[in-house]
Amino acid sequence: MLNKLEVNVPQKTYPILIRKGIMEDIGYEIKKYYYNKKITIVTDYNVENLYGEGFVQNLSSYGYEVHTISIRPGENSKSIETLTQLYNQLLDNGMTRRDLIIAFGGGVIGDLAGFAASTFLRGINYIQIPTSLLAQIDSSIGGKVAVNLPRGKNLVGSFYHPEAVIIDSNMLKTLPQRYLYDGMGEVIKYACIKDKELFKKLSIINNEAELFSNIDEIIYRCCNIKREVVEKDEKEAGKRMLLNFGHTIGHAIEKVFNYEKYTHGEAVSMGMYVITQKSESLGITKAGTAKLIKELLIKFNLPYQIPKIRTEKLLEAIELDKKSESDFINLVLLNEIGDSFIKKIDKKDMVQYLLT
Ligand SMILES: NC(=O)c1ccc[n+]([C@@H]2O[C@H](COP(=O)([O-])OP(=O)(O)OC[C@H]3O[C@@H](n4cnc5c(N)ncnc54)[C@H](O)[C@@H]3O)[C@@H](O)[C@H]2O)c1
Ligand SMILES: [Zn+2]
Repeated sequence: MLNKLEVNVPQKTYPILIRKGIMEDIGYEIKKYYYNKKITIVTDYNVENLYGEGFVQNLSSYGYEVHTISIRPGENSKSIETLTQLYNQLLDNGMTRRDLIIAFGGGVIGDLAGFAASTFLRGINYIQIPTSLLAQIDSSIGGKVAVNLPRGKNLVGSFYHPEAVIIDSNMLKTLPQRYLYDGMGEVIKYACIKDKELFKKLSIINNEAELFSNIDEIIYRCCNIKREVVEKDEKEAGKRMLLNFGHTIGHAIEKVFNYEKYTHGEAVSMGMYVITQKSESLGITKAGTAKLIKELLIKFNLPYQIPKIRTEKLLEAIELDKKSESDFINLVLLNEIGDSFIKKIDKKDMVQYLLT
């Protein structure tokens, strides 16, 4: 079954297509959105080794002239240096503004290739084919593209939407398990902020086989929430902040551990649990909510308790977070599962959400 969502932003309308096996005849889909001849696929070594050959063959059978640029996997590749190499290779391939880039990989590739597309020759069209769970439910939707600078993540970027997002959950079968659960951290986040039904669905999944048999619906629900939030608030002035549930503390944990010890999803998991435990004890969140979150996190191999680090260290990391404006922090809290809101708090009051 093909699930189709449509993203409507001021600049354009484009589809998100979700179907197991859609990659098998991907050229057929691409033909609907791209009428010229030349395509450059941007991918990483892992994804290229697994899926590159079949992808190129299929596109070629539709008459496309296909080039592939493959980069080293990992966050370090989301850099200005790799971007420069990418521009050079695009020029070597003779890419013009009428040609197409396909971002084929996880969030690193989506952000890097998307930013290259937004800037190369003042912008050329691109299609997202996300291959990690995180990319399929989060980073490929919303138009945020970026590279990192030595001084911080995503410091150079833009808002640039693709022509289409095409999602084949079959590719998740080769995703290393830690990345699968990393993505589940964000899935649980969506359920917490906006989808009680999804939360219930996740609660009755007992093993990976059951997860995979429900994965298309899970992806659909998450994409739909992100689509809705992004349409209402493309540039993150208001409602898009709800997507930051668990992220204020999560980002701080990632930073304190130099982005090495915990994946993003793991750090966000701890952030969601800790903040909810606190807001519950302050009488803001319905009693029992933190326990429900904890049970779900355990089921998907995600941590819930923040590691033993000094509270001041976490506070310091939160202070530096670029998402906090002036003396205030926009904290995302739950009324209950599926119902979230933004609470603007004084930075100095943040400490009461951290002390255990
Ligand atoms: N733009 C946004 O809105 C947004 C949102 C969230 C995260 N992000 C960004 O996303 C990035 C993280 O994305 P990620 O977790 O996908 O990381 P990633 O791109 O590094 O992918 C994770 C790993 O999985 C491998 N991989 C991907 N798909 C695979 C598959 N199907 N089979 C086997 N291996 C596969 C990759 O080679 C890599 O080693 C970060 O840079 C983050 O800043 C962006
Ligand atoms: Zn996140």
